[in-house]
Amino acid sequence: MLAINLKVFKDKSDGVLYIAEGAKEIPFEIKRVYFIDKVGRNSLRGFHAHKKLQQVIFCLRGSFELDLYTGKTQRKLILDSPEHGIYIGPKVWHSLKRFSKDCLVAVFASDYYKESDYIRDFVKFRKYI
Ligand code: TYD
Repeated sequence: MLAINLKVFKDKSDGVLYIAEGAKEIPFEIKRVYFIDKVGRNSLRGFHAHKKLQQVIFCLRGSFELDLYTGKTQRKLILDSPEHGIYIGPKVWHSLKRFSKDCLVAVFASDYYKESDYIRDFVKFRKYI
């Protein structure tokens, strides 16, 4: 598990700036960014792994639980800060759950969306790794 820390500028009463640059704070060139919004308490996302894709996931607002499984180790993390993200490399089964109502998730990805890069079946994932 790799924690990713963004650069932070605190402008006192004028707010806080969080900065993510490709191949710097984010350990790859960013080709795609997506957001997950309007989740509910019982929403479930993820439940797949990627063959090659690298991603860094942040919780910009609220909180959620991120479960990671490499085939050997299992981690359960609470994300609740725009400053600290988690790197999800290839071959990591991941799921997102227990979202707060106001939760806003941001994901930086190393490649464009490609369905052929997904492993969506857990049995196939076990075989793949
Ligand atoms: P998916 O990655 O399965 O969502 P999650 O991991 O958050 O549960 O994506 C859901 C659908 O959205 C997928 O079938 C196709 C579409 N999609 C895109 O077209 N482009 C993207 O970058 C992403 C992430 C999803």
